[in-house]
Amino acid sequence: MERVGQQQQCVKRREDPTAVMDYDDDERQQPMPWPTKRPCSRATIQMQVQRPLHQRNNDCNNSTVDAIRGYCRKRNMPLDVYRPVMHQDSDRCGGSKFRLTDLINELHRVFAEDRVNVEYVQYLMESYRSDPAEWLKYAKFNKFRYTRNLVDAGNGKFNLMVLCWGEGDGSSIHNHPESDCIMKMLAGQLTEVRFAWPETCTANDDENEEDDRQLQPMCEIGRTILETDGVCHINDSMGLHRVENASHTDKAVSLHLYCPPFEECSTFNQHTGHKTTAKSTFWSIYGEKVSKKRAEEQVPADDN
Ligand SMILES: [Fe+2]
Repeated sequence: MERVGQQQQCVKRREDPTAVMDYDDDERQQPMPWPTKRPCSRATIQMQVQRPLHQRNNDCNNSTVDAIRGYCRKRNMPLDVYRPVMHQDSDRCGGSKFRLTDLINELHRVFAEDRVNVEYVQYLMESYRSDPAEWLKYAKFNKFRYTRNLVDAGNGKFNLMVLCWGEGDGSSIHNHPESDCIMKMLAGQLTEVRFAWPETCTANDDENEEDDRQLQPMCEIGRTILETDGVCHINDSMGLHRVENASHTDKAVSLHLYCPPFEECSTFNQHTGHKTTAKSTFWSIYGEKVSKKRAEEQVPADDN
């Protein structure tokens, strides 16, 4: 599967995605500009608060997924520019609600293609407005650590899962081997801390090859606070990250999409950059808790 639209560097986000395209007015059709790239600076730690899409829009658009689909098919629009404007807000606009099931169905349709526009997938994730009634059955907590709960296996093309974070829970620093990770807040608040790859360490290095390497603390290159409905995207070309629930009073729930799915990733010691391999496991699958026996057989997951 070829991924297009993938950012090789840190991405400056669009501020108003509703302002570019109007489906009912061909005269106004303009491809949405790609986000402006800015170089990652190891010397500068980027701090930002990622506000949810609906808070960044001044206006709303009643386009539904079907309308977007029809628009693109009618014009034989290639997936590279398959970035329609979509904003579902039944309360304010009277439009149809974009439910979790709509998101999943649209993801299946997108991933059935040979090429997938990762930015469109991110846009779909942004377009879904968190509704606890739709995801609560997947939100299963463990009092000792965060949990990964599979929602949809994506026909082998992607994994969609709900992660549940207790107060103070956090992941290790990890990569996403040959995969894109799109993460959306469903409830609460999480901090995503981004790191540069350790010096001379690349995605393809064998962990045994670093024995002769000068180990040193990892360099933080960005920090984003994700609030409910906020979305972020990372892959190995964009760095490594750790996700943490900094609150000692509130839990948090997030929705993660990995494409393609992976069963192992690398985790890193922040103080030395030392890399080890960790297996990904599920606490529950399709809303059903994984049996204790099966859970005990699994190596604790350290990715997210
Ligand atoms: Fe991650």
